[in-house]
Amino acid sequence: MKKKTSSVIAWSMGAALFVAVAAPVLGQEFGPVPAAEVDPAKAALGKRLFFDARLSGDAAISCSTCHNPELGFADGLPLAKAYPGSDGFRNAPTLINAALKAAWFHDGRIGTNLNDVTRESITETYSMNMDMRLMQERIKQDPIYLEMFDAAGYGEPSNGSVRKAIPEYLKTLTSRGAPFDSGELSDAASRGFELFKGKAGCAECHNGARFTDDQPHNIGVPENPDIWLDPKRHLTYVSFAMFMGIENYMNIRRDVGAHIRTHKSDGSDIGKFMTPTLRELNYTAPYMHNGTMGTLQTVVAFYNAGGGSDENMDPRIKPLGLSWQEQADLVAFLESLSGDPLTGEEHVWPEKVNVNYKPFDNWLEMEN
Ligand code: HEC
Ligand code: HEC
Repeated sequence: MKKKTSSVIAWSMGAALFVAVAAPVLGQEFGPVPAAEVDPAKAALGKRLFFDARLSGDAAISCSTCHNPELGFADGLPLAKAYPGSDGFRNAPTLINAALKAAWFHDGRIGTNLNDVTRESITETYSMNMDMRLMQERIKQDPIYLEMFDAAGYGEPSNGSVRKAIPEYLKTLTSRGAPFDSGELSDAASRGFELFKGKAGCAECHNGARFTDDQPHNIGVPENPDIWLDPKRHLTYVSFAMFMGIENYMNIRRDVGAHIRTHKSDGSDIGKFMTPTLRELNYTAPYMHNGTMGTLQTVVAFYNAGGGSDENMDPRIKPLGLSWQEQADLVAFLESLSGDPLTGEEHVWPEKVNVNYKPFDNWLEMEN
């Protein structure tokens, strides 16, 4: 039996203090991801909001612009797009099973709940750049929303209930139908699973139903030069680092990762990123926090060569000496962790969200 460890990470951002309590359980059981219980009316409302571009400042992008159901709720790009005037510096992660995470974003900087992640995604200047009060007013003008908020038990639309309804929808995004779960593994994938748990050491960090320990580690992923050479991306990162209190923000030329929230004086968290889930990888290339690896073959070859080179690299990342066949088996195993696409009406708002609603006839007499 491996020992359970727990850690408490506290960091401050502006006046607010966020505390993340993470309890990594090494050697967690592998198996299907349990479906969450959801409130159907709240989730249906969250679904419409997720696909509604009116939630962004210029009403041009919705959550689904970067979290596209056809692409495993990622976007297929190395680095995500961003609000006009800025540009993304991180790879958009899948949202499938994201409701089960202990801390969100590649650096784990939000360790509270999806309500906070939703607020951040809506209001952050480089994300959707929306003022919550304006959002609330826009939503209150749409008769369909008035009905849906009421049916969900929220009463009148408010920004607080938007931040509850979207997480309720995110809880519906659960992996299902993966060959790994149904026991339909090819011989290659079965051999790959043995390597994964054994010689290749992957399960040290990728374990449990989602294949992650929800902890940050440094595996030495190389920088994506686009972030440092493209002025818009660079500016976006610099302002992010400035707001997060990174001392040397004008001069850094690397993504500091988890250091952004821990600020350890010895710099030992620089270059650590949260272990991502390994589910639904067939839909979500390219990989890593900065999208620098285009295929699973590249990822496995990277690990086989002993990861990248970084002074803080995790000691478990070392040359593996896997043969070509063994590397191919590992890839076959990783591919067996992708299930049915979540692209049906259950998960996707069926038509383009209609914004040409008819104004209320008696709007002058309506309350608010
Ligand atoms: C412009 C692109 C873009 C838009 C729009 C966007 N996201 Fe994201 N999302 C990202 C990127 C990029 C990340 C990773 C950010 C990071 O690590 O700093 C992310 C991370 C997340 C995460 C954390 C996932 C994880 O595994 O930690 C959640 C949850 C999320 N987004 C939900 C939403 C919701 C809900 C909306 C709409 C309100 C939304 N996003 C809008 C690009 C976007
Ligand atoms: C020391 C912990 C650790 C070990 C051991 C480890 N990984 Fe990872 N893995 C990570 C972290 C952390 C990341 C994210 C790094 C980043 O984004 O820069 C990652 C990323 C990945 C990704 C990319 C997923 C995505 O969506 O971007 C894949 C695939 C992967 N690992 C597979 C493996 C395989 C296969 C092995 C064994 C050969 C392995 N990992 C061993 C911690 C680990």
